[in-house]
Amino acid sequence: MLCWPFIQLSCGSPVKRPLPKLFASVLFIALLSSVAASDLSASRAEQDAARENGCVRCHSRLSTPAEMSNRFLDWRASSHAGAGVTCDTCHGGDAAARNQAKAHAGVFPPSNRNSRLHEMNAPQTCGKCHGAVVNSFIESEHYQRLKNSGLGPSCINCHGHMGSSVARAPLEGESLCTFCHNTVNGLLPQRPDIVKKAKSTLDAVARTNYMVAWIVEMLREAEKKKLDVAAEKEDFRLLKITLAEAKAGWHAFKLEAPALKADKSFDEAVRIKDKLSKKLGRD
Ligand code: HEC
Ligand code: HEC
Ligand code: HEC
Ligand code: HEC
Ligand code: HEC
Repeated sequence: MLCWPFIQLSCGSPVKRPLPKLFASVLFIALLSSVAASDLSASRAEQDAARENGCVRCHSRLSTPAEMSNRFLDWRASSHAGAGVTCDTCHGGDAAARNQAKAHAGVFPPSNRNSRLHEMNAPQTCGKCHGAVVNSFIESEHYQRLKNSGLGPSCINCHGHMGSSVARAPLEGESLCTFCHNTVNGLLPQRPDIVKKAKSTLDAVARTNYMVAWIVEMLREAEKKKLDVAAEKEDFRLLKITLAEAKAGWHAFKLEAPALKADKSFDEAVRIKDKLSKKLGRD
């Protein structure tokens, strides 16, 4: 019998944080990916408001238990904090209340079916801001399965606390897709093709993320040197759109189209990088 984290079939105690090793190993890549900023970024005023938020104020002062301060620091370092997305937006509760019990009314542990972050509810909660991703996800068989039987990965199985870590998955061994799709005597028929395709898509996304970070650096340098890079900037803007489409499309788990988009993004990123290298006199 397979025991998927969060889903209690006739399993032993459910694992609360799935695949922590993966999260750690891909954190760096995920951090780089935040460079591909969308137009969601916050104004200064929103960031100030976030600091004044009741949840944030109280939690910023909790030094124990360690779990609590870790969670706060996760948030503090995340792009969600940078964008002014506060605790209550995801967890619920009353951010205006100064008193702990009142503030926590409506806050449940994510394993509780009533939590906004329970795997069944997360698509809706996250979807308020990540519409394109969630629209793709809703097309997937995973979503159908999740809705009907709870069997399918949801947002929080792949994204760490702040979404800033992603189980990007070297999809071997005990890892994410293999777990359901390629295990001997598993719940589903063995499908090595699914695992292989997913891996190549995610590798292409990761390679492109690195390139994007590299291009950002070169654009900065070019601007310092007052070079004309208007054309490269425009190409870069379009590249980021294609990459975002690949990432959103990935969530439908129809693997062909995002694989093509991810490869296309990578080729385009290499082209832009080469042009910039030349302008910067690096070859
Ligand atoms: C109130 C709006 C809002 C909600 C709700 C929200 N997000 Fe975000 N999310 C954002 C913004 C804004 C960013 C930063 C975008 C940027 O800088 O490009 C972001 C960034 C991300 C990223 C990219 C991470 C990174 O470090 O760049 C991921 C992944 C993500 N969110 C996942 C989630 C998940 C999963 C949920 C639900 C548990 C969620 N988000 C809920 C607004 C939201
Ligand atoms: C006056 C201080 C205070 C305020 C305000 C506050 N919290 Fe907490 N919160 C705590 C303390 C202390 C703990 C840990 C101790 C405990 O278990 O009660 C905690 C625990 C939590 C937990 C983990 C426990 C669980 O039930 O899952 C979450 C999630 C949480 N808070 C979210 C929030 C959110 C969201 C808000 C704002 C709507 C908020 N907190 C406002 C003090 C506060
Ligand atoms: C983008 C959405 C998002 C924001 C913003 C957010 N969290 Fe979370 N939080 C989650 C998700 C998803 C989980 C469950 C997954 C996990 O445990 O990593 C979680 C889990 C937690 C837990 C563990 C709860 C338990 O019972 O196991 C605590 C504590 C917590 N968050 C505190 C906070 C605090 C404090 C803030 C604000 C400073 C905050 N979170 C902001 C999404 C968010
Ligand atoms: C099977 C794993 C998996 C699941 C389930 C999943 N994601 Fe993702 N998500 C990823 C991967 C992988 C990326 C690409 C990360 C990167 O840039 O390397 C990603 C990227 C994202 C991004 C960033 C997109 C961008 O343009 O930068 C957001 C936002 C996001 N996911 C939200 C969600 C939400 C919301 C859900 C639930 C509806 C969800 N994800 C479910 C694996 C998953
Ligand atoms: C919790 C178990 C679970 C996990 C983990 C999981 N899946 Fe699935 N997946 C399912 C189920 C259930 C179906 C529906 C299968 C069916 O109806 O035959 C499905 C269907 C699919 C399909 C459509 C099947 C087809 O024949 O085309 C694809 C593609 C897919 N998953 C890809 C992935 C990828 C990629 C990953 C890893 C990121 C993954 N899945 C992780 C349970 C899972």
